[in-house]
Amino acid sequence: MTSFSHDSARLAETYDRLSDSQFEGGKRLVERLELKAGHRVLDVGCGTGRLARWIAERVAPGGSVVGIDPLVERIAVARAGAAGISFEVGQAEDLAAFASDSFDAVCMSAVFHWVADKPRALVEVRRVLRPGGRLGVTTLPRETLGASTVTTVCGPVLGQSPYAERVDLSALAVASRGHTTTELIAMVLESRLELLDLHVTQRTRVHRSGEEVIDFLESSSFGNFLRLVPEDLRRSLRADLARAFEARRRPEGIAMRDYATLFVATKG
Ligand SMILES: C[S@@+](CC[C@H](N)C(=O)[O-])C[C@H]1O[C@@H](n2cnc3c(N)ncnc32)[C@H](O)[C@@H]1O
Repeated sequence: MTSFSHDSARLAETYDRLSDSQFEGGKRLVERLELKAGHRVLDVGCGTGRLARWIAERVAPGGSVVGIDPLVERIAVARAGAAGISFEVGQAEDLAAFASDSFDAVCMSAVFHWVADKPRALVEVRRVLRPGGRLGVTTLPRETLGASTVTTVCGPVLGQSPYAERVDLSALAVASRGHTTTELIAMVLESRLELLDLHVTQRTRVHRSGEEVIDFLESSSFGNFLRLVPEDLRRSLRADLARAFEARRRPEGIAMRDYATLFVATKG
């Protein structure tokens, strides 16, 4: 189960600094929401607010953006970086703070795989969307997780002693509960949203060092990445993983490949 109690100001600042690839992916997602000046947008799981600030420019003049995130430290960074955007602590599963039919679009960029109760979140999103409003989501398809660089690098390290006896891949958190693409489609339709588009793409993120890869994994998982690893092994595992990623460094950096599902749904 994902914990929201292992984040820190340092992890929030690190994520803000290392999240260029997430930001670019978020922009591509938002482009599919058909935003116009004057629109009101909810950014669920807004993190440190980079994408919300970009959305605010797209709905100006006259539009507005609200960003919510469960992590107090990330909301603090978001608030410090933007005037005129409302950033509040909150979760996808409970949007009671917002009236029904009150948003033209809802964005969940790199968030959905962390949400514990996804059906509940979709019902809430549908409620706050106006008829014809759009939801945009990017997430990780479970069937491709084995093909990601994280898995192919971490697997062999965990196969060695002393980890082999005490840690397995499922202890490394890069998502709370993954879902297959088929499950995602069923979930969206069961929430009575109409699915307009869903596709899976390969993506590549480049890091400068093995240390930076681990910093990204720790900060994007808000402290969950190694949380389930026995405490006495955590420091050495962190160092061994950093070395394994470092060994893949090329002149252009360390290429981290994975797959992302992007879907857009609407309230009919
Ligand atoms: C990888 S970050 C993505 C942040 C931002 N959307 C971006 O694109 O950079 C994942 C975010 O999802 C948030 N999150 C996790 N569970 C959530 C939930 N149940 N409801 C809303 N946000 C959640 C986390 O707090 C974290 O800020």
